[in-house]
Amino acid sequence: MRVAIYPGSFDPVTYGHIDIIKRGANLFDKLIVAVLLNPAKRPLFSIQERIELLKEVTKDIPNVEVDYFDGLLVEYAKKVNASAIIKGLRMVSDFEYEFQMALVNKKLNPSVETIFLMTSAKYGYLSSSLVKEIAQFGGCLSEFVPDIVAERLMEKFKKS
Ligand code: PNS
Repeated sequence: MRVAIYPGSFDPVTYGHIDIIKRGANLFDKLIVAVLLNPAKRPLFSIQERIELLKEVTKDIPNVEVDYFDGLLVEYAKKVNASAIIKGLRMVSDFEYEFQMALVNKKLNPSVETIFLMTSAKYGYLSSSLVKEIAQFGGCLSEFVPDIVAERLMEKFKKS
């Protein structure tokens, strides 16, 4: 069985991520969406909240699983028997850092390939950080995230 991982912070999941998840799931028998547990990043959503939202928005894709990891991604890949890491590429500005990570990961574990999927044109501008900024100032989120994510974002900013 061919297993791939799609790692990220997903704080929160956007339509850009969902596009990559659907396309990645088409290429592999199983796609594991793996949320990085990294308290140093001070995320808006807890790891549980991010996992719950990811599960909700991927519930209709049968070969997608949602999990979390800490430590090195390639160690997690070994643990779950993944042969590939899927990454989405948006702008040229993503490239340098992603290229660097792909090379380091290859060095750490040569048996795991990093596969880049080009973003769909309509999501090229989208990021979780911008979505949070729009939410903070009460902007309309319907083009960027599923309704359930928009609701959770609004709740977060209502409280603070
Ligand atoms: O959504 P993000 O924040 O861009 O995702 C970054 C992520 C989680 C893919 C990256 O930070 C990562 O793989 N972290 C795990 C630690 C690791 O393996 N580092 C070595 C890679 S060079």
